[in-house]
Amino acid sequence: MSKPNGQEANHSRQPLLEGRSVSKYFGGLAAVHEVDFAVYPGEIVGLVGPNGSGKTTLFDCLSRVQDIDNGQVLFKGVDITRKKPHQVAHLGLARTFQVIRVYRKMTVLENMLISRQWRGETLWKMLKPSHKDTEQRARELIDFLTINHLTNEKAGNLSGGQRRLLEIGMSLMPNPDLILLDEATSGVNPTLIETIKDRIRALNKDQGISFLMIEHNIQFISDMCSRVYVLNYGQKLAEGTPDEIKANEEVIEAYFGT
Ligand SMILES: Nc1ncnc2c1ncn2[C@@H]1O[C@H](COP(=O)(O)OP(=O)(O)OP(=O)(O)O)[C@@H](O)[C@H]1O
Ligand SMILES: [Mg+2]
Repeated sequence: MSKPNGQEANHSRQPLLEGRSVSKYFGGLAAVHEVDFAVYPGEIVGLVGPNGSGKTTLFDCLSRVQDIDNGQVLFKGVDITRKKPHQVAHLGLARTFQVIRVYRKMTVLENMLISRQWRGETLWKMLKPSHKDTEQRARELIDFLTINHLTNEKAGNLSGGQRRLLEIGMSLMPNPDLILLDEATSGVNPTLIETIKDRIRALNKDQGISFLMIEHNIQFISDMCSRVYVLNYGQKLAEGTPDEIKANEEVIEAYFGT
């Protein structure tokens, strides 16, 4: 049976992203404890778990916004455990945030242009002649994400779903190979959820971009992901296909209690 995502993952190859016993502690709290995982090239992988189970903290570790206390993270075979956020961005790892980070007083286009900085580029470099190419790329992505009617709209006036699409666009500016999506459907109306699904599928199928996505929307996970990891109290509770995860008694108990 073919996978829901367009690209067939090749598990015999080196993982695109690999976490080995990744741990992050806040004082006495094990927010992430000895978590092993892998995302293979072309995969769309889910990351689920109850509130406070460590999902966003794991993303913070992977994008290097937080220090990793123990363990190792490899991206394209490169050890990124101690790298800086702009270095991992430069290697092709992008992310979006649970609480959307756009500049509300800037337009959609301006937000897209400024997002180049996430790749470690300075403002003066952005304003140099290459800026024209940057603007063209930004406009193409805005078109691709179906928000071209909002190009000159202030980001603060966008709906939740439109802002999620903008943030996906900003993450695409540096031309990443893997995007970490933190709750891309949260605060999004059903119509735009379908648009987000469709655009993610296109990015995966046509451009080979891989995704690791945190989601509370299990239907979205079922529709999009070939594999899912489940966290509970910072530890990996289960991994498997969406159907396996939905039928897993430990997972059901973690979500709903006995
Ligand atoms: N900067 C921080 N300082 C101290 N504790 C933190 C910090 N960030 C997260 N935590 C704690 O770490 C645990 C994991 O939080 P995290 O935000 O990673 O969970 P999550 O799985 O993303 O939850 P949600 O589904 O609600 O977004 C929680 O107990 C949280 O309170
Ligand atoms: Mg979170």
